[in-house]
Amino acid sequence: MLLIHNGSLVSGAGVQQADVLVDGERIAAVIEGHLPGLGGLGPDVQIVDASGLLVFPGLIDVHTHMRQPGGEQKEDFYTGACAALAGGVTSIFAMPNTSPAVTDRATLDLALDLARQNAVCDYGVFLGATNTNQRLKLDNPDLRECGLKMYMGSSTGDLLVEDFGAQYEHFQQYPRERVIAVHAEHEPAVRYFGQHGERRPHIAAELEVARAVALAERCDRRVHVCHVSSRREVEIIRDAKARGVPVTCEYAPHYLFLTTDFEHGQITESRGLQDYQPGQALHPAALYQMNPPLRQESDIETLWANLAVADCIATDHAPHTLDEKRSAKPPSGVPGLETMLPLLLTAAHEGRLELADVARLCCEGPARAFAIQAKGRIAPGFDADMTLVDPQEQWVIGDRPILSKCGWTPFAGWHVRGAVKQVFLRGRLAFADGKVIAARGAGKRIVN
Ligand code: DOR
Ligand code: ZN
Ligand code: ZN
Repeated sequence: MLLIHNGSLVSGAGVQQADVLVDGERIAAVIEGHLPGLGGLGPDVQIVDASGLLVFPGLIDVHTHMRQPGGEQKEDFYTGACAALAGGVTSIFAMPNTSPAVTDRATLDLALDLARQNAVCDYGVFLGATNTNQRLKLDNPDLRECGLKMYMGSSTGDLLVEDFGAQYEHFQQYPRERVIAVHAEHEPAVRYFGQHGERRPHIAAELEVARAVALAERCDRRVHVCHVSSRREVEIIRDAKARGVPVTCEYAPHYLFLTTDFEHGQITESRGLQDYQPGQALHPAALYQMNPPLRQESDIETLWANLAVADCIATDHAPHTLDEKRSAKPPSGVPGLETMLPLLLTAAHEGRLELADVARLCCEGPARAFAIQAKGRIAPGFDADMTLVDPQEQWVIGDRPILSKCGWTPFAGWHVRGAVKQVFLRGRLAFADGKVIAARGAGKRIVN
């Protein structure tokens, strides 16, 4: 047995002084106040002193790119899951835009097998929608995917379901209670503006989010909108929710904290990004290139003012190597697993959101949106996934080793307050003092 003693538990309802008793992989009891008389506990209870620390449920990140198979120069299930633990994340869902892409039984098995052998946190893998796999049925819970991911607009990799008919068939045929997660950018608009030298303006996201919501409403089925980045998207989803459309959505840290103004930000004087010299071929515009692109201040303000519209914050951890970012055709995406929680804790310190919001958006919300049983809360019977953070510790992003294989972060040089100290995965210490302790393969598949 394990006792997390003297910590402040954070949930969507607030912060509470309580001890947590763990039996094996599960939480046995939450003792309000603190357990007096520890001496009576017996020798088989290991006591973790969490004085001065916040205890979050292990964070759940429903949007990560682990790059395995096929992109192992950027990341793999081991390094990506190490980055997750370093960021206080104990559960990840991996996107299917790998090489080969995860689009059928064989490729799903391949990805699940790589995750099983390598991941040091719990995981699920999305099935990727194609123009021809609408009828694929993977009903057996032991074999099926964590959800269906549909690229309604193109992005990294070759997954794309642009055609209305194929989209409609997926919306009709995928089990209604399970989640279709969409990358919603309107492909004809992406193409048109691309030909005119403009990268993915707002209208591309607005059009396709509206389409995804209309499909969910007409087909009476769940849809999850990935990485909401702009004002109008928020308004469309807010209105749809008010009408009772079964839509959920996620915000990503980079859209909450970065704008197109990054050139004037800290990147040119960043620490930890020693590879970048001003004037060198690696341009910030390439480093910060992502789909959808970074937006303007007014969009960011709308996201912050509408945190209540978000069901989750998910990293869209999309690592690429600096060499790739330096190339003539830099790929889109930035890593995010190691920085999400420190950034949010800093924002909480600044009063931009409550600690309870962090627990709602990073723990309870994702569990609810994806019907993940027994995770996302610290309560009896739940998995003993817990992230202990020191809310006062100040540090500079980039100064500490980066565990993601890509080795860089778009937030290098940022001063943050709040550091992950210890992470428990199903009752076992998995990360402590900056080091991964969990053995390769310690992660378990999440059945949702
Ligand atoms: O910027 C992005 N990168 N957006 C995506 O949709 C995909 C991701 C990736 O896989 O690199
Ligand atoms: Zn996407
Ligand atoms: Zn993504």
